[in-house]
Parts: sequence; C-alpha cells; structure tokens
Amino acid sequence: MNKDTKNLSIDRIDGRLKVTGGANYFADFDLPGMAYCVLVGSEIGRGTITGIETKKAQGAPGVLGVFTHQNMPPIPGWDASVGGEADGPPPRPKEEQYRILSSPKIFFDGQPIAIVVADTFERATYAASLVKATYNKQTARTDLQKHVAEGIAPKGEDGGNYLRGKADAYQTAPVTLEANYTIPIEVHNPMELHGILAHWTGADTLMIYAKTQGVNATQNAMAEAFKIDPRNVHVHTEFMGGGFGMGLRTWPQETAVVAIAKKIGRPLKLVVNRSQMFTLVGHRPYTVQTIQMGADKDGKLVGIAHAATAETARYEDFTEATVNMTKFMYACPNVSTRYRLVRLDRSVPIWMRGPGEATGAFALESAMDEMAHKLNLDPIEFRLRNYTETDPEHNRPYSSKHLKEAYQRGAEAIGWTNRKAQPGSQREGGWQIGYGMSTGVFSAFRWEASARALLKADGSLTIQSAVTDIGPGTGTALTMIAHNVLGVPINRIKVEYGDTSLPKAPTQGGSAIVSAVGSAVFDACTAIKQALVELASRDGSPLAGRQADELTMTDGVLSVEKEPAKKVAVGELMRANNLTVIDKTKDSKGGPEQAKYSMYSFSVHFVQVRVNPLTGVVRVAKAVSVADSGRIVSPKTAASQMIGGVAGGIGMALMEEAVIDHRYGRFVNNNLADYHVAVHADVPAIETIMIDKPDPIINPMGAKGMGEIALIGFAGAVANAVFNATGQRIRDLPITPDKVMQKLV
Ligand code: MOS
Repeated sequence: MNKDTKNLSIDRIDGRLKVTGGANYFADFDLPGMAYCVLVGSEIGRGTITGIETKKAQGAPGVLGVFTHQNMPPIPGWDASVGGEADGPPPRPKEEQYRILSSPKIFFDGQPIAIVVADTFERATYAASLVKATYNKQTARTDLQKHVAEGIAPKGEDGGNYLRGKADAYQTAPVTLEANYTIPIEVHNPMELHGILAHWTGADTLMIYAKTQGVNATQNAMAEAFKIDPRNVHVHTEFMGGGFGMGLRTWPQETAVVAIAKKIGRPLKLVVNRSQMFTLVGHRPYTVQTIQMGADKDGKLVGIAHAATAETARYEDFTEATVNMTKFMYACPNVSTRYRLVRLDRSVPIWMRGPGEATGAFALESAMDEMAHKLNLDPIEFRLRNYTETDPEHNRPYSSKHLKEAYQRGAEAIGWTNRKAQPGSQREGGWQIGYGMSTGVFSAFRWEASARALLKADGSLTIQSAVTDIGPGTGTALTMIAHNVLGVPINRIKVEYGDTSLPKAPTQGGSAIVSAVGSAVFDACTAIKQALVELASRDGSPLAGRQADELTMTDGVLSVEKEPAKKVAVGELMRANNLTVIDKTKDSKGGPEQAKYSMYSFSVHFVQVRVNPLTGVVRVAKAVSVADSGRIVSPKTAASQMIGGVAGGIGMALMEEAVIDHRYGRFVNNNLADYHVAVHADVPAIETIMIDKPDPIINPMGAKGMGEIALIGFAGAVANAVFNATGQRIRDLPITPDKVMQKLV
C-alpha cells in the first residue's frame, strides 16, 4: 500500500451520474418494439380460482395478450427451480409449491393471477383492471401471534438448535430475566420499484435488465428455468436504487415475464407498483422471541436461552440467523437457542438489511439492558464483565475484535457520563431525556470472486467485475483498492461493473463485497505490479536488479522507495517493451485460515432520545455509531453506509410496520404514505466512528464488512434509551407514541 494515500477519502465515483440522471436503472432502458406487463393480483388470501374472465381485457386497446394459469406458456425448468435463493426450498408436494400462473391455487393475498401485456404501460394498466376472477375462498391464516405454537424446526443450518452447557442453567442464577420481544413485518421499500426488462435476442439467447443484487445469480436462475446455456443469458444491472435484500433472489414474476416475452416475441418490461412491493419481493418476517437470562450478583452471565419463531410462507421456508448472535457474543457457560417457523398464508419473506441478526440483536441487546438494570450496573460495564476475547461457540480466536475500544470511543462521543442510571430522572424543556446503547455483530465473509485489471501505456487503469453496486459505493471502494496497490491517480481509474460479460462476482449482499471482489481487484492489481517490477528490473532499466519490495508506484511512476531519484515512468517502461496494455484477471478466495478463526464485524450504537410525556413521541436526538470493520478502504462511502444504516435503524425502532387486516389477510398500509420510514426530520446528525484497524487474517486489505452492522443493534439502543428516559420497557417494535402513552399513563 502507498502510505501517503492510506487515508485518502474520495467522492463517490458515480455520484455525478446519479444526481444528474446519467445513471441508468433497469426501468430506464427502452428497447425497440418493447411492450409492458401489468400484474393482476388475487383478491383472496387462500383458496382457488373457480373462474377467470379475460375477454374484455383481451379486447381492450393495445392489448397483446392476457396470461393466466389457463394459458401461461411453459417454463422448461419449471419443476427444477425458479428461485435461485441460497437455501433452496425443502421438497413439498407439487400442489404445495407456488409456481406463478401454473395452477388456480392461491397462497397469499395479491398473488398474481394474470399478467396483461399491452403496447403501453397505461393500456396494460387499464386492461388489467378488466380481468375478473371468482374464487372458492378459504380462511387465510396470517396472524403469527395466533399460531406461534405451530412452529416447526426448519431444515438446514440456520434452523439447528444449539446448546452449550445446560439449557435451563439461567434458572439457578440469583438474578433472572424472562422477556418476550416482537418484530413486525417490515418491507424494504427502496425508492426504485422492482421489475425486469427481458429481451430474447435469438431462439435461445436472452438479454435481461433487472433489479438484482447479483447478475450472475439471475443469469444462472434464468438459464436453469429456460434450460439454456448460462453463457447465452446476458444480465445487466449497473445501478440499483436500493436493494436491502429484496434483490437477493429471482422472483417468480420475473421468470414469468421472460417466458411471456418469448411467446409474444417482443421485449417486455415489468415494473411492479408500490403495493406489489409489499407482497411480491419479500419482507422482514414477523418474529416473536423469548430471552431467558440469568446472572450472578457480580454481573457474570450464568445462562441465556434464546428462542425465536418467525413466519414463512405455506409454499416455501425462509430461514435466517435470528438467534446466532446469542451463541458467541458474550462469555457465558450455558447457552441454548431455538428457531422455529410457522407457515402462514403469506408471501415468502427474504433477508432485509442486517437480516435475522438485526431481529435477534434487538431481543438480546434489550435483554442485556434489562439485566444490567436489575443488577444495578451500567450497561457498558455489564457487557465488559461478560466480554470474550475468543469465540465461545466455536472455541477459536476472532480474526480481530476491537469492540472494547468501540464501546469506549462511542461512549465518549455521545457523552455517556451524562446518562443518569435512574430511569426517568432527566428532563429538558418538557421532554424526558434518555441514553441507550447496543452492540451489533455480523459475519465477515470472504467469498470467491474474479476481477480483471488492465493498465494501459497511457497510464490509465480499468477494473472489471460483474458485481452489482446496490448503493454502498462498491465502485468507489474498488477504485480505492486499485489505487492503493498501483498508485494510479484516482481520475485515471475506471471501474466497469454490473454486467455478466465481466468477470464473475458473487451477489452483492451479506456485507461481503469489499472483502470478496476487493480481494480479487487487489490480486489483479498486484499481478500487474509484479509484471511491471519484472520489466523494470531487467538489464538496462534505471531500476535494474531491484526487488519488488523496494519499489513503490505513485502517479504512474515506479521508484525506489529510499532513493527517489531512481525511477521510471510506467508508460515509458511499457512502450520500451512494446506493451500497450498489461491485462491480468485473478480468481480470489480465502485459504485454510478461514477455518481457524471466527470472523465478525462489530458495531456499537449509542443514542440519546427525547420522549414527550404528553404525546408519547420519541425523537432520536443524537446518534453515534462505531464500526469495527477492519481497515476502511473508502472512508467517505463507509461513513455514508453507516449513516444509511442508522436511518434504517430509526425506521425500524420507531415507525416501520406493515399492518395486515387478518380478516382478509391483506395489508392496509401498503403505500409510502401509511408505511412510515424515517425522513430527514426524523434523522439527527449522525456521528460515525471507524476503528479502522486492519484484520490481519481475512483478506489482503484487512477489510471486514460494513453494510449490516450499520443497522444491527440500532433498534435495541433506541429501546434502551426510551427505558432510560421513561422507565418504560417497550419490547414490541416499532416504538410508536401509542405504546409509549399506554405505559406512561
Ligand atoms: Mo443484504 S440483507 O445481504 O442485501
């Protein structure tokens, strides 16, 4: 790395394109002859279609086709997978599998029962309103609270029960706690609506513009569905207006549009509407949790039992790592966890930022706060008494952990010493003031990825990877990594991404992309540097006989570190060797060290809240979030990502909740007027602190992930602060004024 550029903070490389309208999102693409799809949704939550009337729609102006379960074109891989999700659905009988427009069976309210295609979006929308269905209706079960007892253990690793020591040991402790926590359905609700543009360029060649977090994953899912060679499926997603997890799989309606495009012989575009965003592209599942905890009088944990029950669909199981944090976060000899699913008449959930870990952290970190209060201990002190330097779940060291420093720096920044231990004892101008904190943690991965780097004799560098940038600034981070290896000026580096014609990359998710694709970029750039050093050290060069570790590269000049006069311009060197370009592609993945260490990113969130005792309104007045994410390769985008996570955390803590009228199994607030997210007035100045210490194990940059820990734990910090402000413990998110009022009166 070039020492002088280590902390360089650059602007987002695509910032200008994004704010000037120059960035093309999938729906911005228009193709000659393109037609439009509009989905018609089921009006019942469970049952079967007994009749469907499409004649009027067929005859409406501009209509090119109306597709239902009666005339849907076949999808050759229909019985394989139309999913592409990581876990894969467990086998269910065929009639219990949801395959869009393949049967009259209804699994959830809003399930597509017809797809109308017309020459304009408006005509398709009008024709869709003319499709009428009759149903044999059954009672839809959509209320998890009523069916918690029906929880079943899912298949797969996330569903495994866990036990260390004795399950009920907490009961023997002198101080015990037992509490239930609930998380409602939350919907990702990015600004950009979901959809797809599909174009069959030949009999078995396909071009797709999609809203996907992984172009290679979509490529494979479509190749499998249509039984064609993945190399014949070209997927492009350069820009994405927010993913947050909804684009981690290919959804059935996308596959259906591709099938219909083939049948009709025209490019087809589908953009779902806002209410369909609530039912067709996943959500954070409603989850109920119980924490049982025991500690001795000195504040040492004796036992923790953590049980979670989450909703899933009748037709597919979705699992996430809700209880995982409890297994390794604290030094505690007796830990048990349990995870259950209840199959409801609902569309299937998906990961939503921080995913299950954010759900679990809310429960565990609320309970830690409750316990600290019972023990009459400061919440940070309680955590420090149970701090662990090694992973108690796997009995192995952490690759790096600077959480103590994170507690300390965050506490200083928020002014933790101003916190009063006695709840409800601080007032200011008619508002009650409280402080809260919470820990967050998420796995730090190193997945396999490829990248290509091309250095031209004119000194410019191009980096290529198929990875999609869902918003965090991946292109900017990759630019920084290349710059730090090769010393090429930032404005001479171009990153090309978001397209399957480029070297393979994993799906953008799991806070894993800087580690995965960044390592591949690092390796490709390192290979270029090695090639240059080889050229430079040849006889006749001013650097003849020098070793790689003696040389640095800055602004396109290779020089000897301790003798700056000894140097050669890279362009000159390449031209002298008749090279116009040095082109290196590297596949990169971790080695055996991956199994020897537990790798996690850690965060600590601190908030000051103000609670109005007359209205029950909670305001987050101050927020400080500290990240132990290893080495920060792009300080500005990392800070922005943290700020975005906190804004999402404020929504999770105080407002986000998709409400179902269980009589109909239907959402009642499926729009952005009624589903509240944090807006500017809800978000205070957020201070972000990066520990910025390289992880010596995970990858050559020493960078761990950032995306999930920005959100994980935040809602708990707010709940803990509300308790400190009012003495009222609210265990059901979101913490809306009605809940605060009920407890205050
Ligand atoms: Mo993230 S929930 O892996 O998009």
